[in-house]
Amino acid sequence: MKINLANIKKAKNLLNKEECVAIPTETVYGIAGNAYSDSACEKIFSLKKRPKNNPLIIHYYNLKKLKGDCDFNDDFLKLYEKFCPGPITFILNQKKTSKISKVATNKKKTLAVRFPRHPVARNLLRCLKFPIAAPSANISSRVSAVTSTDVKDDFGKKIKFVLEGGRSSVGIESTIIDLRKKPKILRLGGLEVGVIQKILKKKISIKINPPKISAPGQLRIHYSPGIPIRLNAKKIKKNEAILLIKKSKINKTNYYFLSKKGNLKEATKNLYTILRKIKKDNYKSIAVGKIPNKGFGKTINDRLLKASKF
Ligand code: TXA
Ligand code: MG
Repeated sequence: MKINLANIKKAKNLLNKEECVAIPTETVYGIAGNAYSDSACEKIFSLKKRPKNNPLIIHYYNLKKLKGDCDFNDDFLKLYEKFCPGPITFILNQKKTSKISKVATNKKKTLAVRFPRHPVARNLLRCLKFPIAAPSANISSRVSAVTSTDVKDDFGKKIKFVLEGGRSSVGIESTIIDLRKKPKILRLGGLEVGVIQKILKKKISIKINPPKISAPGQLRIHYSPGIPIRLNAKKIKKNEAILLIKKSKINKTNYYFLSKKGNLKEATKNLYTILRKIKKDNYKSIAVGKIPNKGFGKTINDRLLKASKF
């Protein structure tokens, strides 16, 4: 896509003034603010109605810019080399001298860091003197935004500026991996665990539903389109939409499919758009058909399970 430099400049000016702007990333749109500024980070929490104890992901242009804030380790460097910029977030130890706002981290000694691949986000990050704190650009507990229209639907005039970046190509949040000790996945996302495993060549544990919630991406209610979702539903209710992994022979208006032929990557990309569309089309609930529980199918099932707790 062609980059509009005037828009990037506008976003940069607002961020320099400790204001928030929405930015595109390849995973989902984010509500961005200066990660070194308490005031900017406070604005992010209040805009999103996000609980203060849920820390924000910090976005960097490259390793050089991260050096002052975090300790690196071998696993991190291997994954950075292979997948960054891209849809993966690392939990690392923060340096004592780190300038990241304590509001962004809820005073945690760790930091969630990410290097987005989207050219507009990269262009912006390259010309800023600080990293960007950015949670997904949706109201807390709701479906993330994958277009600028989604962001405007959720925030209206409350957000000063939405930087246009087209539709997010991955369409689901980044995979979060804790690399402080043995690698541990905290959130399934836009990068498959299998490909991470191949690079690290060691066992990776998956801790996406811990009994005690330590990272609220793990909150039970999340990613909700604002109407009930029923998994493995046998009978269809009145005013209900049916969500299927692939196109069905039944050609009714309440049938929605995530991918024409059941491709799981494509289905992941379409998930949030279709959930939002069903709500806009005025259905009162969603019945979901079975989705294969492998690769990206696991990410889709994780999101739908959490959304079904609405
Ligand atoms: O793809 C993404 O990651 C998007 C785009 C905008 O970059 N961002 C995103 O942010 O999904 P958010 O705030 O919606 O989700 C961030 C998750 C939360 O579940 C939060 O609890 C977790 O990251 N997190 C942040 N800092 C953490 C930390 N130090 N330790 C563990 N989890 C952390
Ligand atoms: Mg989120």
